[in-house]
Amino acid sequence: MAVPCIFLLCVSTLYYYIFFFSPSELHQLHRTAFHFQPSKNWMNDPNGPMFYRGYYHLFYQWNPYAAVWGNISWGHAVSKDLVHWHHLEVALAPDQWYDMYGCWSGSATFVNDGKPVLVYTGWSNVPSSPDRKVQMQALAMPADHEDPLLRKWVKAPQNPIVTAPEGIDSNFFRDPTTAWVGEDGKWRMLIGSQENMTGLALLYTSSDFLTWKRGSAPLHSVDSTGMWECPDFYPVPLLGKHGLNTSSNGKDVMHVLKVSCVYDYYVVGTYVTSNDSFTPVQADLDAGIGLRYDYGKYYASKSFYDGNKNRRILIGWVNESDAEKADIAKGWASVQSFPRMVWLDPHTNYSILQWPIEEVESLRKTKVSLESLPLGKEAIMQVKGIKGAQLEIDVDFQLPEQIQAEAIDVSASNVELICSEKGASRIGVLGPFGLLVLASDDLVEQTAIFFVIVQSKDGLKVLVCSDQSRSSLETNLDKTSYGSSYSLKGGQTYLNLHILVDHSVVETFALGGRVCITCRVYPTKAIDQAARVFVFNNGTVPVLVKNLVIWELADVLIDTL
Ligand SMILES: *[C@@H]1O[C@H](CO)[C@@H](O)[C@H](O)[C@H]1NC(C)=O
Ligand SMILES: *[C@@H]1O[C@H](CO)[C@@H](O)[C@H](O)[C@H]1NC(C)=O
Ligand SMILES: *[C@@H]1O[C@H](CO)[C@@H](O)[C@H](O)[C@H]1NC(C)=O
Ligand SMILES: *[C@@H]1O[C@H](CO)[C@@H](O)[C@H](O)[C@H]1NC(C)=O
Ligand SMILES: *[C@@H]1O[C@H](CO)[C@@H](O)[C@H](O)[C@H]1NC(C)=O
Ligand SMILES: *[C@@H]1O[C@H](CO)[C@@H](O)[C@H](O)[C@H]1NC(C)=O
Ligand SMILES: *[C@@H]1O[C@H](CO)[C@@H](O)[C@H](O)[C@H]1NC(C)=O
Repeated sequence: MAVPCIFLLCVSTLYYYIFFFSPSELHQLHRTAFHFQPSKNWMNDPNGPMFYRGYYHLFYQWNPYAAVWGNISWGHAVSKDLVHWHHLEVALAPDQWYDMYGCWSGSATFVNDGKPVLVYTGWSNVPSSPDRKVQMQALAMPADHEDPLLRKWVKAPQNPIVTAPEGIDSNFFRDPTTAWVGEDGKWRMLIGSQENMTGLALLYTSSDFLTWKRGSAPLHSVDSTGMWECPDFYPVPLLGKHGLNTSSNGKDVMHVLKVSCVYDYYVVGTYVTSNDSFTPVQADLDAGIGLRYDYGKYYASKSFYDGNKNRRILIGWVNESDAEKADIAKGWASVQSFPRMVWLDPHTNYSILQWPIEEVESLRKTKVSLESLPLGKEAIMQVKGIKGAQLEIDVDFQLPEQIQAEAIDVSASNVELICSEKGASRIGVLGPFGLLVLASDDLVEQTAIFFVIVQSKDGLKVLVCSDQSRSSLETNLDKTSYGSSYSLKGGQTYLNLHILVDHSVVETFALGGRVCITCRVYPTKAIDQAARVFVFNNGTVPVLVKNLVIWELADVLIDTL
């Protein structure tokens, strides 16, 4: 929340800057300004996002009573633009025998003539053995689908509509996807599961959306990946950035399967509806072992087709990195990622690109830009004329003509370690170079997002790292550094970083959206108007900041309708 700089507040800011903030003041200053969050308490997965009659709807796993997980209900908010949200009453609360312990994650589908329904997981026990908890799927419909706000939801009398089949542990049977229609006109949906540590996307089919039959085989499974939570399955066009509704298929269409198992992994493949076979393009990049949407704090995401703007949008849960005790003291926990557009990367056809939705531009205020700034060895420079903790940043670094790189062998399994061990605070060759955000004037607090070019066994790689080790003077925080690597293409001369900074969230879209990293940081000095941005180069080889643009972003007030 930006503090308007009227005289009194400036004085008090100065006062606190000298005498430090009290914990409760810091907690409020760590709340985000334009990321979605409930008015208070605990939130986790996004659920059932959709566009309906002029409104975007977002549901989310919410504990209405405390800042820790429990009593899970579906919170509900609506927006005209995916940025300015309005809270509505709880859509689904645990009030039936089949969801008495919680209304867990699920999805929205438009059935028949475009009427929305929700399918979610009810958590309850078995009446015959009350100690045994089970998960089952339930259906809810709007009480009045003429109401564009869809304020009231009615649970189907036929619930539960799907219970765990023979051979599947009912503790591992949850998070139904948006359903789609196959060639035979029948509905299909996936339910996440596991068997003997094999992650499973169980396939179910139905003619009437009430009676569901288990498919003869899971749509997909991968050994040793554990429970597949929150599966998501959607088509993307082979060419173009536009979105497709979830039932689209054809020869120019690929499918993305995302599963949440520790991280949000996705795999691109071809899906044949006649026999419900899904074949990854790259078997070695399969679900649970290959590519991730985000290499930081980002989980249980869900996408939807936005018929309003003909695009596919992705929203993910961004957890906290502080202790549960701190969440209770704050009175709130977690935000949703800023909505991202997703589409297939035409340079690979097996990976996707992500970018903040264009609506972020409506928040832009003051702008500073600079061009052609050389950064020699150990250069560090504050970007003047801009400050604060609500920023959108876009920067292109130009690489030298001759690439000199340190010999460091990187792989998916060691890249995070390399990012954290090497960090930004050392002298490299070509990199580390990048940005410091949420940095204090004296640099004792800083969150670094940077590149390092390395010569790996399998070619030149760009490491994209986010170093949180100096993000806060506070110690009781998870400050793990994050990172990923990407092959440096021959002829590539620029490396781009696009970053959204929002008080305690830093969302990075690197290399044109090829590598995303979200982190949570809780500075104690580099807060609000005291937060600065620096560019730096800690390599011995000079690099050039070709273009840098920073916008201060406006607050979004989330009210209650
Ligand atoms: C929340 O759940 C806890 C235990 O899971 C229960 O004791 C408590 O009554 C619930 N609170 C409300 C307000 O339902
Ligand atoms: C899982 O393990 C059980 C017991 O060993 C076995 O009967 C079953 O076939 C296994 N399932 C799969 C899918 O391998
Ligand atoms: C989804 O898109 C396909 C292909 O464009 C179209 O044939 C179909 O009618 C659409 N379905 C819905 C429910 O909009
Ligand atoms: C499904 O059908 C496609 C197209 O006919 C075929 O190529 C593929 O091998 C089939 N897959 C399975 C698992 O039967
Ligand atoms: C969320 O973050 C907390 C630390 O703040 C951690 O203990 C917990 O395991 C995280 N939850 C998930 C599902 O990642
Ligand atoms: C991706 O698919 C398109 C459309 O079929 C094709 O033109 C392009 O060459 C493919 N790209 C790669 C890298 O295979
Ligand atoms: C650059 O390296 C020096 C020497 O290790 C270190 O003191 C400094 O903090 C580093 N700069 C950044 C931005 O991390």
